[in-house]
Amino acid sequence: MTTTSLPGRYPQIYDSARRDPEAFWLDAARAIDWAQAPNRAFAAESGPYGRWFPDGSLNACHNTVDRHADGKRADQVAIRYDSPVTGTKRSITYRDLREEVSTLAAVLAGLGVGKGDRVILYMPMVPEALFGMLACARLGAVHSVVFGGFAANELAVRIEDAAPKVVLAASCGIEPNRVVAYKPLLDAALDTARHKPEACLILQRPQGPATLVPGRDRDWAEAVADAAAAGERTPCVPVAATDPLYILYTSGTTGKPKGVVRDTGGYLVALAWSMPNLYGVQPGETYFCASDIGWVVGHSYIVYAPLLHGCTTVLYEGKPVGTPDAGAFWRVVSEYGVACLFTAPTALRAIKKEDSKGARIADYDLSAFRSLFLAGERADPDSVAWAERVLDRPVIDHWWQTETGWPIAGNPLGLGLLPVKHGSTCVPMPGYRVEVLDEGGKPVPAGTMGTIAIRLPLPPGCLPTLWGSDDRMRSSYLATFPGYYDTSDAGVIDADGYITVLGRTDDIINVAGHRLSTGGMEAVLAGHPDVAECAVIGIRDALKGEVPCGFVVLKAGVDRPTAEIEREFVAKVRDEIGPVAAFKLALTVPRLPKTRSGKILRATMKRIADHEPWTMPATIDDATALDEIGESLKDRGIGKN
Ligand code: COA
Ligand code: AMP
Repeated sequence: MTTTSLPGRYPQIYDSARRDPEAFWLDAARAIDWAQAPNRAFAAESGPYGRWFPDGSLNACHNTVDRHADGKRADQVAIRYDSPVTGTKRSITYRDLREEVSTLAAVLAGLGVGKGDRVILYMPMVPEALFGMLACARLGAVHSVVFGGFAANELAVRIEDAAPKVVLAASCGIEPNRVVAYKPLLDAALDTARHKPEACLILQRPQGPATLVPGRDRDWAEAVADAAAAGERTPCVPVAATDPLYILYTSGTTGKPKGVVRDTGGYLVALAWSMPNLYGVQPGETYFCASDIGWVVGHSYIVYAPLLHGCTTVLYEGKPVGTPDAGAFWRVVSEYGVACLFTAPTALRAIKKEDSKGARIADYDLSAFRSLFLAGERADPDSVAWAERVLDRPVIDHWWQTETGWPIAGNPLGLGLLPVKHGSTCVPMPGYRVEVLDEGGKPVPAGTMGTIAIRLPLPPGCLPTLWGSDDRMRSSYLATFPGYYDTSDAGVIDADGYITVLGRTDDIINVAGHRLSTGGMEAVLAGHPDVAECAVIGIRDALKGEVPCGFVVLKAGVDRPTAEIEREFVAKVRDEIGPVAAFKLALTVPRLPKTRSGKILRATMKRIADHEPWTMPATIDDATALDEIGESLKDRGIGKN
């Protein structure tokens, strides 16, 4: 496997990072401001596999806000807030942004938040959410954003683990079909969580104001107005490069979610490298990442990277379709002169479904628009080819994980576009030494499928550890293949070094670009009093890529109508995990197909549901169980021939 024969600057740059990582990353570190510039890039002796920039110190808010507000970009728009769901637009310059963030930081400091303290955010896509994240960064506090589509129980688990001093929340989020009252979910989470924050700062939205709990809840607008009137401002507090900037929880295979820790220095260096070299974007240009701040993609490419690079970032509170139509993204691209759009393949499929000819594109002036990047799930070649045709621009699939914080692989547009191979996420970014391993941990020949692993150390930007648990970091990622980080993705690397990601090796499924644990859903179903046993699998879905489907065996003697019980299962997963799980299919079956040793045959069940060829496993205990699965799916119109 070699990338050396590829055109453009990529081979030489990738190779220089491989040959002399110290020099490469110390040089990359010059793109950002340091309070104390690092003399060393990497310290192998610290942390589960080492730490980046061990002797540097800096502040992320200074780098993303103040250095632009103090320089020639003060009057450049930093954030374009565009909210079709509320009919609101707002442009915030870097000067305004500093004002907002430093005042909010003073409010947080007044609530006792200081360096190293955690702050949880449970907020929709509004500018105040960004002010909150950056205000934490300004104080050296550690933010943890929880996606609004998660239910109270998931929020409670994160509150317990992160033990925040303060929670920042909005009264509601707005989905096209409903107003989602966040505050009752926060109240319920705080009722159950053993950890209690000292205060909650609540942003009242006119679409759904909340009742405040006396003594605990403060009104966001009042607190900020008071601080502004008193002229309170807080300066940026330098932190060690290895100090955490944020914790972002992501689905683990089972049990509680993993608190992915992002350090400050390595992260900013990696993001700064990615903007010109991977995305091909220059300072002053507009970048539109249509994700959500609750996901890693939102952290990195709605908030930190565009602002770090002196770009204008678009904060879009809407959907790709229905707000109001399939031209929504192209409207935003044209209105703000977007150079680069980043979204999930599922959004592209939603647009394609409603506007298959791409007719809406012609309604807009897309002259500034150069490229579309896709990530979050496998980009199906049909949708990529469709987008290339209707947009007539590069469409780039790139692969990453919450854990890595920035792309592992992609087509480095800024270094010269490499030949595109549909279905592949192209080549590794500098610092990622990606290999495909067999079950025994041995590298396999080019073109052979296996588990994708990254040779340690991981490059800057990737997780140094899990919150509060170096041991869980080791057991989750580093133990399977000694000397490697196990991505838990399966795939292939071809003879040109192109990486194709085919799917997960664990129980994680990807629903509309959202990462979810089927084990977590099984645990919820198992908590229903009528359930004897259950299995949840991800089945193919034309829009969302995959959707979960639960198979449930009821306890003997349960004689209520199954339709009623199945509705309860659906409601239970929605209540305990959240609407984001998109759990709408629960099928009661007489038994689950198992091997003679009792292992549930999930992979075969999935093949049946996905209408793929399958063979009867030799080890099956009772072959009729698989027929019953097929029948129950056919009854719902799934997996039919
Ligand atoms: N707060 C509360 N609820 C939310 C939410 C939020 N922030 N985001 C989504 N939900 C709800 C939705 O309303 C929906 O509820 P419903 O079951 O009542 O309809 C449910 O969670 C599932 O949402 P989603 O999977 O997003 O489906 P959708 O039908 O609302 O929209 C798409 C479909 C394709 C338009 C949408 O999934 C999409 O834009 N995906 C892009 C994903 C993305 O950007 N991922 C980030 C990785 S890069
Ligand atoms: P998340 O941590 O939510 O970003 O999800 C990460 C997982 O999404 C990866 O482990 C992959 O399984 C999947 N994924 C992300 N990007 C891609 C991609 N471009 N191609 C295939 N799978 C992807």
